[in-house]
Amino acid sequence: MPTKIEKDSITGTDTTGHEWDGLKELNTPLPKWWLWTFYATIVWGIAFVIIYPSFPYWRGTSGWIAREAIVAEMAEVRAQQEPMLARLREATPAAIAADPELRAFAVAGGRVAFANNCAGCHGAGGQGAQGGYPALVDDDWIWGGSLEAIQHTIRHGIRSNESDEQRQSMMPRFGADGLLTPAQINDVTEHVLSLTNRATDAAAAGRGAEIFAEQCASCHGERGEGNREFGGPRLNDQVWLYGSSRDQIAAFIRNPRMGVMPSWQGRLDPAVINMLTVYVHALGGGE
Ligand code: HEC
Ligand code: HEC
Repeated sequence: MPTKIEKDSITGTDTTGHEWDGLKELNTPLPKWWLWTFYATIVWGIAFVIIYPSFPYWRGTSGWIAREAIVAEMAEVRAQQEPMLARLREATPAAIAADPELRAFAVAGGRVAFANNCAGCHGAGGQGAQGGYPALVDDDWIWGGSLEAIQHTIRHGIRSNESDEQRQSMMPRFGADGLLTPAQINDVTEHVLSLTNRATDAAAAGRGAEIFAEQCASCHGERGEGNREFGGPRLNDQVWLYGSSRDQIAAFIRNPRMGVMPSWQGRLDPAVINMLTVYVHALGGGE
């Protein structure tokens, strides 16, 4: 199509030369302010590329790198916290708990460290989880709820095979290894149920009581009150790690599952372990 640029008689502006069925298009120039803004963004863009790191291997003339800035900022925060962390590292948990300032810092820091390292197994608020993860908010302790006991558990772990001082004890596999017959397992299950007044077969529970005294009392206590030395949980309360039903208890006796908790010594700063100790102790069940 031939193009013919002409002046529009009404606006005085050039046309583009395009014509469709008698309709012509005006070639209105861009407003000056828009053009200048546009040029300014181009200049700004070029300057940005030069000053800041914009391409691989180009660090920019300013030398400012977002990642390095964050690292420096974190180092500064850490340096600010360092005196406090040093005090928390040196002090015993008992001394921290007795000092209001240290205690407040430890509980706040312990809450964060707990969310990062422990909540996955013990629940966000330390309420525990079915399948062997004990609640840390109650006063039902497998290994002990004093500051020292809690700290020992956190440092060395439980059956973690990561520390010589780990908490260790294994319940025999009474069914899987044929130490008790199915009938005996039924009887001792009935006795365990009787500890919380749930037995339905008194004769079986009576037979089970003898088995319990021989096979179980050493780790769980004569009345099922638990034994912290062997990490044998209480069996005469409402708190169950692996389920409270008859089937769950019998299945456990047949083939027990031993919970594992990692050792945190070496993974966490001693100051953080102290903060966690005080935090867990303060959750409500501390002794
Ligand atoms: C991989 C899962 C896991 C993680 C992560 C974990 N724990 Fe545990 N924790 C366990 C298990 C399982 C037990 C119970 C072991 C047993 O049956 O004796 C336990 C037991 C404990 C106990 C002893 C409770 C008692 O009744 O005596 C304390 C205290 C404890 N954990 C604190 C912590 C803290 C603090 C952290 C974070 C630094 C943590 N745990 C992280 C699995 C875990
Ligand atoms: C060598 C010590 C030991 C002996 C002996 C032992 N247990 Fe255990 N038992 C444990 C430990 C340790 C646990 C906890 C496992 C864990 O925390 O992961 C446990 C857990 C249990 C549980 C689960 C508790 C819960 O809260 O879910 C039951 C039920 C139980 N034992 C019954 C018995 C019975 C019945 C016998 C005797 C036939 C027996 N145990 C003998 C060490 C022992």
